Amino acid sequence: MNGGARHLYLHLPFCAHRCGYCDFVTLVGRRGGHAAYVDALLTELELERGLLATDLETVYLGGGTPTYTEPGVLTRLLATVPVAEEVTVEANPETVTPRLASVLREAGVTRVSLGAQSFQPRLLAVLERQASPDAVRRAFYHLRDAGFDNVSLDLLYGIPGESASDLARDLAETIALGPEHLSCYELEAKPGTRFTFAYGEELARQAEAMEGYFELVVETLVGEGYRWYETANFCRPGRQAHHNLGYWLGRDYLGIGIGAVSTVDGLRWRNLPSLGAYVGALVEGRRPPREEEPLGPEVVGRERLMLGLRLDEPVPLSQVEGAVDGLALARMERLGLAERRGGGLVLTPRGRFLGGGVTAELMAESPAKSTI
Ligand SMILES: C[S@@+](CC[C@H](N)C(=O)[O-])C[C@H]1O[C@@H](n2cnc3c(N)ncnc32)[C@H](O)[C@@H]1O
Ligand code: SF4
Repeated sequence: MNGGARHLYLHLPFCAHRCGYCDFVTLVGRRGGHAAYVDALLTELELERGLLATDLETVYLGGGTPTYTEPGVLTRLLATVPVAEEVTVEANPETVTPRLASVLREAGVTRVSLGAQSFQPRLLAVLERQASPDAVRRAFYHLRDAGFDNVSLDLLYGIPGESASDLARDLAETIALGPEHLSCYELEAKPGTRFTFAYGEELARQAEAMEGYFELVVETLVGEGYRWYETANFCRPGRQAHHNLGYWLGRDYLGIGIGAVSTVDGLRWRNLPSLGAYVGALVEGRRPPREEEPLGPEVVGRERLMLGLRLDEPVPLSQVEGAVDGLALARMERLGLAERRGGGLVLTPRGRFLGGGVTAELMAESPAKSTI
């Protein structure tokens, strides 16, 4: 083992309400069950601790709504997780009080990712969000007052009924707050969600406009001096999300909690999403039920290519050789969509706008066909 994984993810699934568009592993309410869940989480962490490096680069508490977790339980968890250079907590704006912000800060959290999604009441209502635009702004300032100098905001675009000028206003509101990092995702209609049932057809109708919306996001944020370092992510200098960067760079990571995914030493596993089975196993000191998938070099190379090409820095060709179709690469180079730089491969800005389509072209059907 190569010194152990340096990235740790902890899943806190509880939310006050299930938003219609969400298909993450979440559970509504269950206040009485938070302590037992966190006990199980800490037991799983203890069982897997041997897979972690002694010096962690990042810890990420994601959800669900980690900041909806019972305050005493969340504090206990934060006091027990290993220290790391970057410790991120995902927060929903309506949960961020001055008290919560200082509790997070005092517990060693270095970065907060705030789920704003939009600043317009009409669009927030479509998303069934609980926070008003003012609540988003207040949460942001509570974090600043508590001393956070690394705050990320999540925005969604392509919300049913959203015009280009709505999006421009959301971007302007966001820029006015001045976060160090921004994630801007196109709203996906996840199969089986209430949202897809209610708005699926409308989302399909407006799909054509999304390319223009993506360009508006990138041009506005780059124009404001943000670095477009990953397809959907923007940052001030040095403020990349180092945890997510670990995934995009194909590093090993350990994921703890229901539904959490881990990739360590060529093995990927995903804990099943059942709360009862998870807590039940860990109360008895057993590993929770999980699905395992050994990753062969071919899969590793293809993933490395797919994720690496989302970044603005080249993927070393030595790591993706078998995954790249040489003829397609020559074609993409001629079209000005991809280029070789310093022994690596990177998409040009035009290639990045086309994103997944260019990457799919570059992907060799099988290693034998690759000619680079
Ligand atoms: C784990 S989720 C939720 C975090 C937090 N509970 C919240 O709601 O703000 C992290 C981010 O994924 C994005 N997301 C969730 N559902 C999505 C969807 N259907 N399509 C695109 N992005 C989505 C949202 O921007 C969200 O902030
Ligand atoms: S609060 Fe976040 S995690 Fe919870 S249901 Fe809504 S989008 Fe999903």
